Amino acid sequence: MTDTSLQSGVPLAGLTTLRIGGPARALIRCDDTRSLVEEILAADTAAEPVLVIGGGSNLVIADEGFAGTAIRVESSQIEFGTDRESGRAFVTADAGVTWDDLVAATVAEGFGGLECLSGIPGSTGATPVQNVGAYGVEVADILREVQVLDRRAATLRWIAPNELGLAYRTSRLKHRDELVVVAVSLWLNGGRVSRSLRYRELSAAMGVDTGGRADARAVRETVLALRAGKGMVLDPDDHDTWSAGSFFTNPIVRTDDAPAIGERILSRLGQDIVVPTYPADDGIKLSAGWLIERAGYVKGYPGPDSAVRLSTKHTLALTNRGNATTGELLALARDVRDGVAAAFGVSLHPEPVLVNCTL
Ligand code: EPU
Repeated sequence: MTDTSLQSGVPLAGLTTLRIGGPARALIRCDDTRSLVEEILAADTAAEPVLVIGGGSNLVIADEGFAGTAIRVESSQIEFGTDRESGRAFVTADAGVTWDDLVAATVAEGFGGLECLSGIPGSTGATPVQNVGAYGVEVADILREVQVLDRRAATLRWIAPNELGLAYRTSRLKHRDELVVVAVSLWLNGGRVSRSLRYRELSAAMGVDTGGRADARAVRETVLALRAGKGMVLDPDDHDTWSAGSFFTNPIVRTDDAPAIGERILSRLGQDIVVPTYPADDGIKLSAGWLIERAGYVKGYPGPDSAVRLSTKHTLALTNRGNATTGELLALARDVRDGVAAAFGVSLHPEPVLVNCTL
């Protein structure tokens, strides 16, 4: 008996939150880690290319599709535990657990820690790969361990966060197919206490001093409302949410280059404009959404008749209005990227994984 199902010549668009992209040769759904490992290793032995799909929320698949087998991760176990040494609570979840279901489960069990990451689409296994972050918290802040399948060695192993090279929206797991995340373990706070609220928009909405803590359930509700207002919570009836979330990462410019870029922005927009900047490890982070909007790509660009548009709620999301192609999406992405470079001399880089296509 196998707990997987195989279909042939399968469209993948429905497995992505953008709902675009061509088919794969085959699709295998795996509802536990054992079958996931078996199917990936069997494909490797047969030299069959594999595309691992989780929640599909960070995936742009070419219109031509994928010449290989797509393996959908649908493993679903969640386990709570207490660390023997520190006495601290943690949760371990299979890669296929829907991320927001995991956040909800931790809050329901009386724990805090994950609440700022409420409402993020996608699966748990994807979260360490691109070090998902929102509202002042990123996965690196709460990660305990990641279990990976090492496809070359054909073994499972646990990796500590400090070996993962976690940085802003990236890690050593990104663009490296030989390690597939099969489970993720995360630290929790007891007493449903949130992490400290470092994102000003969130602390203000909560009526808490920036850096303070609050009840995790209340924080979760507030984050969900903030995200929904930006079209960043999936809703099948709202095309503003048919996206891959932020399409570009917030650009980090070198500290040496920042004054010249600042000058260029001010000379274009006026000397009294306040440019949003955030400190980053290796320079100064700018806001991609802000730059896009100020370069003339306003919310909803290029207009209601277009199959792909910037979200009408947030310029950083590229959205499918119902029958878009990947070609059209990439054309809009190039338009925006080139326009921001021409206006401000800042390069934007895509956040999603591009399958069989490039920007
Ligand atoms: N802004 C605009 N126009 C817009 C949207 C934003 O000018 O249409 C400006 C505003 O000045 C705003 C600033 O951009 O204050 C920042 O916007 P926001 O708070 O929405 O955050 P972001 O930097 O655009 C990041 C993450 C999001 C995450 C939010 C909240 C990246 C690439 N994106 O967006 O993550 O939810 O912060 O913490 O880091 C994702 O990665 O897919 C994602 C949705």
